[in-house]
Amino acid sequence: MSLSKVIAIDGPSGSGKSTIAKQLAETLDLLYIDTGAMFRALAYCCDQRNIPLTAGPQMDEFLSNIKLEYGKSEDYLIGIDGENLSHKIREHNVSKLASIISQIPQVREFLLNFQRDLASRVVCVMEGRDIGTVVFPDAFCKFFVTASVEVRSNRRLNQLNEGGESNLSLEQIMTDVKKRDESDMNREVAPLKMAEDASLVDTSEMELLDVLNSLKDSVLAKAKGTGISL
Ligand code: DC
Repeated sequence: MSLSKVIAIDGPSGSGKSTIAKQLAETLDLLYIDTGAMFRALAYCCDQRNIPLTAGPQMDEFLSNIKLEYGKSEDYLIGIDGENLSHKIREHNVSKLASIISQIPQVREFLLNFQRDLASRVVCVMEGRDIGTVVFPDAFCKFFVTASVEVRSNRRLNQLNEGGESNLSLEQIMTDVKKRDESDMNREVAPLKMAEDASLVDTSEMELLDVLNSLKDSVLAKAKGTGISL
């Protein structure tokens, strides 16, 4: 069986997977693909255009007509129909909308095709919830990155504070994180779960640099073992 040249990094929100994936890609000089940003961008845009976040003809029409762009430049990570959404999608409210839209089968199928197409040209680090299980079950290297709910909520709070959204308490964030985990893990289509052949990485008590070094060693060993050149 030929393997996809994808380093799949899945895990719940706040596990540190985005930071790890981004830095791993940078260290290895590979394309970084943030699939959560895609769900966020679609959710944000539907909200702006008053398109209901449900399956139906309006969603079908929206998906058939939009031009989704990924990775045009460092400042333009994601955009729809020429509008740069890279920063707007990080607001707390968009997290909830993204979790809702990610349950719609048409949306998942649209993004699955988009993600497979993006990764068909280059070796990449792709992060999300279902990359190692659904999008690239044949990825040559897979990690499932996680951390305790407390640690993840604290990280999220710090992120929001840094972004100027400091009006939420830790308790509110913990409730949201648990709710989002629940819906991500229990949705019918492509739920968040660890692929059988993924390596589990618990970042609760690890320093970022240690996680990064361990993943990098693992990727290099897997690449050597499978004959994939990075
Ligand atoms: O990683 P994130 O928090 O930016 O993701 C936003 C939402 O999108 C989250 O609720 C889970 C969903 N998502 C998904 O269902 N599948 C992916 N591959 C990536 C994200």
